[in-house]
Amino acid sequence: MIAFSAFFFLTVVLLMATAWTGKLARRRVHLSLVVCTISGLAATIYYAVQLGDSYNLESAGTIYHVHMFLARVATLSYIAPFVSGIATIRNGRHRALHGKVALMVIVLTVLAACTGIWMVMSAEKIAV
Ligand code: HEM
Repeated sequence: MIAFSAFFFLTVVLLMATAWTGKLARRRVHLSLVVCTISGLAATIYYAVQLGDSYNLESAGTIYHVHMFLARVATLSYIAPFVSGIATIRNGRHRALHGKVALMVIVLTVLAACTGIWMVMSAEKIAV
């Protein structure tokens, strides 16, 4: 639980820093932070799966299905800023679209996180 919470918090901070440096047009820092955010996300997913092993997540009911759907969509959505980011490097006109795509990724990440917390809080803990 501690490793998951720490990596989740780190990923959210990195995601915000990525968006902020994008807004400030600090390209080098922005691109380095993108790599850090994706690494943080991978670690968060790893620890989330470990955490899930201690719970009967399906016992949480509908929120389990809602969260699994949102978690998959949110993870897949990280492809979109790569495509729009590369398009922005090639042609600055795509910057506004890239900003909208980034906002969508942030909203989906927050939704996945909120439903994930709700799901774990509603699930039965497996006795060890
Ligand atoms: C989670 C991933 C990412 C987030 C949250 C993000 C966020 C942002 C935001 C909010 C902006 C400002 C847009 C605006 O002014 O409306 C921006 C700009 C930019 N981003 Fe990203 N971005 C991400 C990934 C990427 C990737 C993967 C690339 C390139 C491969 C990229 C390249 C750029 C470029 C070139 C700019 C314009 C900077 C400039 O004007 O010099 N971004 N980004």
